[in-house]
Amino acid sequence: MVLPAALPSPLVPVSDPELARAGVELRLKRDDLIDPRVSGNKWRKLVPNLKAALDGGHTRLLTFGGAWSHHVHAVAAAAAACGVASVGVIRGDELADAPRNWSLAEAERNGMELAFTDRRSYRDTLRTLDDPATRRRLERRWGRCYVLPEGGSNALAAHGTAGLVAELPGLGPRDLVCCPVGTGGTLAGIAAALPAGARAWGVAVLKGAAGYLEDEVTRLHRSGWGRTFPNWHISHTHHAGGYARLPAALTAFARAFEERHGLAVEPRYVAKMLHCVYDTAPALPRGTRVTAVITGRPHRPATA
Ligand SMILES: Cc1ncc(COP(=O)(O)O)c(C=O)c1O
Repeated sequence: MVLPAALPSPLVPVSDPELARAGVELRLKRDDLIDPRVSGNKWRKLVPNLKAALDGGHTRLLTFGGAWSHHVHAVAAAAAACGVASVGVIRGDELADAPRNWSLAEAERNGMELAFTDRRSYRDTLRTLDDPATRRRLERRWGRCYVLPEGGSNALAAHGTAGLVAELPGLGPRDLVCCPVGTGGTLAGIAAALPAGARAWGVAVLKGAAGYLEDEVTRLHRSGWGRTFPNWHISHTHHAGGYARLPAALTAFARAFEERHGLAVEPRYVAKMLHCVYDTAPALPRGTRVTAVITGRPHRPATA
């Protein structure tokens, strides 16, 4: 195992009168407890890629993300744990001389070299990431690297998240397995692995991403499984104004959930997913069982 982990992650029932009134059962798949350094879906997505990188003799990982990317600092931590170097190409050259936020500071503490890039070049590089010319350019700048896309979502990553379904025995037609959606890799893997009847339910955390995220999940299914799957959908109602936004209604929901159930939830993804589950529960068929994947843990407040 390239990164040892506590698996299977716990599956915890949630007892809540609000959900009971709707006749909906909720349980939490605590992937946030997998590993203290690389938690949740990051571990599931990175491990198959780390294995491929090490098997291929790579000594450096290179990836992409915004200033608050969980994926970027997870790659830094994973690379440090495996003894390989890492580079983070960060969107926004204006950040180069700004004080580091905790996310980038943590990446640097883990030895990641940060390359701040203007938004246009960043977008162009990601758009052409699979082109040989782009790869040659990255290699000229950084040497031989194992390249992970933004958010780490490639076919190997999706196969990694598919692994969590094997830890959910007895799924059937009354089951919805729910996760937040940033780039779609986690949802793609879950949907591909579900048994007949069960459905995957993604909650988009990005504003205005309807269509785009569905296309990304479909692309990952085609590249990872050579086919598409009909058993999933994405809710676009609970992005709370966009990735960077943490409006009062969302933080109040997260606080109330913590008070009632003793679990502090990561705000940008996990709180939005749970908020959507609670708001949608009355519209679900009675008897539905929702398994919400807790894909990460809270770090520090966004203002830190
Ligand atoms: C805690 C958490 N949940 C969910 C996601 C979204 O996963 P995906 O990009 O596979 O859709 C992320 C993104 O990295 C994340 O940090």
